[in-house]
Amino acid sequence: MNRLAGPLLFFSLLCVNSGLAQVTYSIPEEMPKGSSVGNIAQDLGLDIKRLISGRARIYTRSSDEYVELNRERGVLLVKDRIDREALCTETLLCAFHFQIILENPMEFYSVTVEITDINDNAPTFEKNEIAFKISESTITGAKFVLERAEDLDVGSNGIQNYELKPKDNFALKMHHNADGNKNVEMVLQKPLDREKREDISLVLTAVDGGQPQMSGTMMIVITVLDANDNAPVFTQHAYKATVTENSPKGTVVATVTASDVDHGSNGKITYSITNTLGNVRKMFEVNKETGDVSVIGNIDFEKSRHYEVNLRASDDGGLTDSCKLIIDVRDINDNKPEINIMSKSNVISENADVSTVVTMINIEDLDSGENGKVNCFTSENVPFSLKTTSDSFYSLVTDSELDRERASEYNITITCSDEGVPSLSSSVTLTLQISDVNDNPPVFERSSYEASIVENNTPGLSIFTVKARDADWNQNARVSYILEDSPVNGVPVSSYVSVSADSGVIHAVRSFDYEQIKDFHFRVKAQDGGSPPLSSNVTVKVLIQDQNDNPPQVLYPVQTGGSVVYEMVPRSADVGYLVTKVVAVDVDSGQNAWLSYKLQRATDRALFEVGLQNGEIRTIRQVSDKDPVKQILTVIVEDNGQPSRSATVTVTVGVADSFPEALSEMSDFAQDKEYDDNLTFYLVLALAVVSFLFITCVVVIISVKIYRWRQSRVLYHSNLPVIPYYPPRYSDTLGTGTLQHVYNYEVCRTTDSRKSDCKFGRAGSQNVLIMDPSSTGTMQRLQSEKSILDEPDSPVEVRLF
Ligand SMILES: *[C@@H]1O[C@H](CO)[C@@H](O)[C@H](O)[C@H]1NC(C)=O
Ligand SMILES: *[C@@H]1O[C@H](CO)[C@@H](O)[C@H](O)[C@H]1NC(C)=O
Repeated sequence: MNRLAGPLLFFSLLCVNSGLAQVTYSIPEEMPKGSSVGNIAQDLGLDIKRLISGRARIYTRSSDEYVELNRERGVLLVKDRIDREALCTETLLCAFHFQIILENPMEFYSVTVEITDINDNAPTFEKNEIAFKISESTITGAKFVLERAEDLDVGSNGIQNYELKPKDNFALKMHHNADGNKNVEMVLQKPLDREKREDISLVLTAVDGGQPQMSGTMMIVITVLDANDNAPVFTQHAYKATVTENSPKGTVVATVTASDVDHGSNGKITYSITNTLGNVRKMFEVNKETGDVSVIGNIDFEKSRHYEVNLRASDDGGLTDSCKLIIDVRDINDNKPEINIMSKSNVISENADVSTVVTMINIEDLDSGENGKVNCFTSENVPFSLKTTSDSFYSLVTDSELDRERASEYNITITCSDEGVPSLSSSVTLTLQISDVNDNPPVFERSSYEASIVENNTPGLSIFTVKARDADWNQNARVSYILEDSPVNGVPVSSYVSVSADSGVIHAVRSFDYEQIKDFHFRVKAQDGGSPPLSSNVTVKVLIQDQNDNPPQVLYPVQTGGSVVYEMVPRSADVGYLVTKVVAVDVDSGQNAWLSYKLQRATDRALFEVGLQNGEIRTIRQVSDKDPVKQILTVIVEDNGQPSRSATVTVTVGVADSFPEALSEMSDFAQDKEYDDNLTFYLVLALAVVSFLFITCVVVIISVKIYRWRQSRVLYHSNLPVIPYYPPRYSDTLGTGTLQHVYNYEVCRTTDSRKSDCKFGRAGSQNVLIMDPSSTGTMQRLQSEKSILDEPDSPVEVRLF
């Protein structure tokens, strides 16, 4: 102040005019009390004494006295604090006036004290702080009016300038108003970014022009309001993920993340899938809020191996970002191999070559890698195998010979499995029929057949059935039976039997006679219906069985119409005397020819008996004189057939000591006198006739037998002997000869058996059957039937008397 006060003194004007003298001082405000304002004595040209004597004093109308007068020193001093701003407010020229009055003489002087401003006030703002809320989207150039600062000082001590710090975004702009004040504006020069700085503090400083300069400040607090000026941003442009096929719904595949630096709803991100094509949206969904991408459909590797999901993140302000999510689908072995039959034959001929292709198949497995590698194989134990021609193509071929008769149908199972873990497989079963080829001839059930039929059958009777089987099928197995022609006894076999072509039943064509033919054989051919046909044949032997259709025939004693054969029994004969032997044969055989002899009637039953088996008539008691000479015995010969047949023979026995006696006795008994008289004549005559007839007979028989023998040698063979018995007194003269297979008796009869001599035998053989009545004593049964059968070929000579 003192420094300031000094120079101000020079502004004091000295104008001393008596009474009108006026002094002006200029002092800065705020001088300390007692500071000198001016040497008034000197300035008014008064000396101190005058001042004292004149009792100089200050006169003023106002009550406030800022200045006092020091009379002793003659100076004006600051009495009170002088505040220009209080005294004059804004007035630039600030002065106060007073008078100095002197007495003795009265005089006065006007004194003006000008107060000059000093910079004693700093600029001030009404508020320390003001706040703005400014959107970050505010464009540059936007203006914000600021409050002015106030400075009580005037002039250059008043506010000279404003400053704003920091200057990053805003600049200050002043407007000079008409009233000389300045309006202060803050102009946005660089856009705000909430994301960088949300709160900005600025300091506005107002400075005055005083020395020293003073300043005042105000805080400007700017809150940057968010604008949606930032789009969401994904953390990656492309995401990769894998998903296993058949993943359950809800499986989270990946999570995408986007961020938005905006605030509030401008920064709230919503995720969505934007694919429009394809079925991505049916497969996946994204959680709006979390960005989790999860499965909602059936992920099938075989339909789609990867997906490209386009994702969008958007904030509420509508700004977006997008990214791709590439999802690779991982295969799992969820597909069975598929077997497709490309072509197949249902039937294959049994003579098909090995390696004939039966079926072609195609394999498909939708899986990939190991899961899609497929191996196929067939069921075992079938003559087929699989050949692979190329990947996934197989052909089923025969690998060995086929035989329909062994297996006419095959169920071939083809199984294909992939190499996945666990492996999946599928199979198909083909049914293949083996078609027949005529490769099997019919086969008779037996290697030969033997059948028998009882003689006297009705023609057309079925004898039996031959049966052949053919392993082939259908027509190839349809067997027809054919009788092979061959002669039997000189006639075609077809006149004996016929064969039913369909059934193989063999029918007799005619009635057989065992006594004519005992057996025959022929061949039957079985032929199938194949082309060419196959055949086989079998020998059939038919045995004809005997029937008791022939009664026994009595050979001896010969029974003729009118003649009687006598047997002699001497009266001296002992008990058991063999009178004669009834000889009978039966052309039947076996039981049917088993003959038995019984006495049917007798003059005296007590005298004779007949050997049941041998037909020998023997006495059973001593002959007495009382016994009549002529004894008539009736012997019945029965065979053993069912029913049995029989023949009777009457034997006349003369009981006498000699033949003539007997004869005469007989004659006596005989009714026929003429017979008696002419006996000799008749005997002679009969002898001659018999001899003649015999010779003729022998000749005829010989010629006939030669003829027949020749025929039968060619046509006819039989192993069965026929004769069950030899008549008594038959002797085997040759012993070692042969008896022919078929023994035909030729019986020659004469009117008088005693004079007849019949020789019979087989023509062409030397066999002679000789019967000698004189050998009755040695008559015996020569051989049993069985022994004859054992030596069927022995020649026998029998002489008959
Ligand atoms: C084949 O299969 C069919 C039907 O399953 C069956 O009837 C037939 O007996 C089978 N054949 C063979 C030879 O196994
Ligand atoms: C009958 O079959 C035999 C083999 O069993 C054969 O040798 C013969 O030739 C056949 N006969 C005919 C006439 O077919």
